[in-house]
Amino acid sequence: MELRAVTGDITKLQVDAIVNAANTSLLGGGGVDGAIHRAAGPELLAECRTLHGCPTGQAKATGGYCLPARYVIHTVGPVWHGGGHGEAELLADCYRNSMALALELGCRTAAFPAISTGVYRYPPDQAARIAVDTVRRFLEEHPEGPQVTFVCFDARTEDLYQAQLAEL
Ligand code: APR
Repeated sequence: MELRAVTGDITKLQVDAIVNAANTSLLGGGGVDGAIHRAAGPELLAECRTLHGCPTGQAKATGGYCLPARYVIHTVGPVWHGGGHGEAELLADCYRNSMALALELGCRTAAFPAISTGVYRYPPDQAARIAVDTVRRFLEEHPEGPQVTFVCFDARTEDLYQAQLAEL
């Protein structure tokens, strides 16, 4: 099973699919969503408009346009409200549904940002554990699934992912 974590900019990765931490409108935003739309160009938003949004925990795919990645898998993470509102299950759904879509698209490589840990304020340590556990479990059930890179935007986040990966 190929799982790794790096620090970098997900818009630069040469992988089959990058995952976007979007919002339910799928019409762009700040953070990694903004970076992906800026790098992909206006055609990405044009295709997103045809998708009519995405519920939290679900995932929808578009082309990558000017990105090196062939596809963008847009998923909507939960906003952190203290942990008592099903946030953990919804975050796990993001990773599981994005992996299922990547598999369906025939992706051999995929990259995830730290979903929900920015604007949506999910505690990064808890989010990293959910990310690694959910992807590991999916790949145990689907060995033909893509190789996964967790792309962290800072060293502190990468340290959290490396600690989770070291426990595998
Ligand atoms: N590459 C990789 N990771 C990035 C990049 C990038 N270019 N830019 C930001 N990140 C990281 C952030 O540092 C954070 O660790 O992505 C993680 C997710 O943070 P956000 O982008 O704020 O996403 P999220 O917390 O899921 O909030 C989603 O923010 O941008 C809006 O439209 C988006 O409403 C949605 C909300």
